[in-house]
Amino acid sequence: MTYSAETSTVPTIVLNDGTSIPQLGFGVWQVPDDGAQAAVTEALKVGYRSIDTAKVYENETGTGRAIAESGIARDELFITTKLWNDDQGYDSTLKAFDASMDRLGLEYLDLYLIHWQQLDRDKYIDTFKAFQKLKADGRIGSIGVSNFTIPTLEKLIDAVGETPSINQVELHPRFVQEELRAFHTSKGIATEAWSPLGSGTILDEPVFAKIGDAHGVTPAQVILRWHIQLGNVVIPKSVTPKRIASNFDVFGFELSNDEIQQINALDSADGRTGPDPDKFSS
Ligand SMILES: NC(=O)c1ccc[n+]([C@@H]2O[C@H](COP(=O)([O-])OP(=O)(O)OC[C@H]3O[C@@H](n4cnc5c(N)ncnc54)[C@H](OP(=O)(O)O)[C@@H]3O)[C@@H](O)[C@H]2O)c1
Repeated sequence: MTYSAETSTVPTIVLNDGTSIPQLGFGVWQVPDDGAQAAVTEALKVGYRSIDTAKVYENETGTGRAIAESGIARDELFITTKLWNDDQGYDSTLKAFDASMDRLGLEYLDLYLIHWQQLDRDKYIDTFKAFQKLKADGRIGSIGVSNFTIPTLEKLIDAVGETPSINQVELHPRFVQEELRAFHTSKGIATEAWSPLGSGTILDEPVFAKIGDAHGVTPAQVILRWHIQLGNVVIPKSVTPKRIASNFDVFGFELSNDEIQQINALDSADGRTGPDPDKFSS
């Protein structure tokens, strides 16, 4: 049932468990359930095969409907969802997983992520142990985390004897996460970038228009290409059909090292758009 990349033009990243994930996927945060069905339907039509949702987005049902109605073979799709904070803990994780799968209408999940580390709850180790059970039972292909910092990753790996396949974190040209990416590489963890376009807030930076003009592409395409060349898995979100299509069209040009450096130079210590994982509690 694991994802087979044979029919897709999107490059894949091989995870530390031997499975592959498309390097470019489609995110649906902040899209209501009905809108998610329409947006995912459009994305699948354009050629995306990886979809990123979460329990807390409240659109697993619409996402699942789009998947079912697409008629695309299950092994050509890579579906990710995430465990929400108040479901952390061993038994509650097993229950929450079943509920997510019911909403998605799936029997098998490609990737399950712990949405936030939640240091105040301190349950991420038991939560990951439940992920390991679900994987051993063949219900999930890959298990990972989201919004985990280096010290928390180290503690988790020590405690469970397994390295998560992916850490999905805020990452874009204003928040480049160089130290975390280097740590991931040293441990064989894939880096997945959320809010890859800075949630749409960074597109007006003049450097993207300048580089885009040189290649005949848009600022968003420049940023997504930057992610691809950095080696990130990237999951842009849009509900706009034209943008859904153009965000997928990022494999026909290449940025030079100099252009990549110009983009890296936008990095800023306070470049986050979302919460600090060490402080986020909900
Ligand atoms: N793990 C986590 O904690 C976490 C947190 C945040 C996000 N995520 C995941 O990451 C995904 C992407 O992040 P995101 O949704 O925050 O933001 P994003 O993908 O960085 O940006 C989305 C925003 O940019 C706009 N946009 C998209 N393509 C564009 C284009 N070509 N030109 C101009 N504007 C464009 C979209 O507008 P329209 O939709 O109106 O077109 C939307 O407002 C999420 O959907 C979710 O799956 C995960």
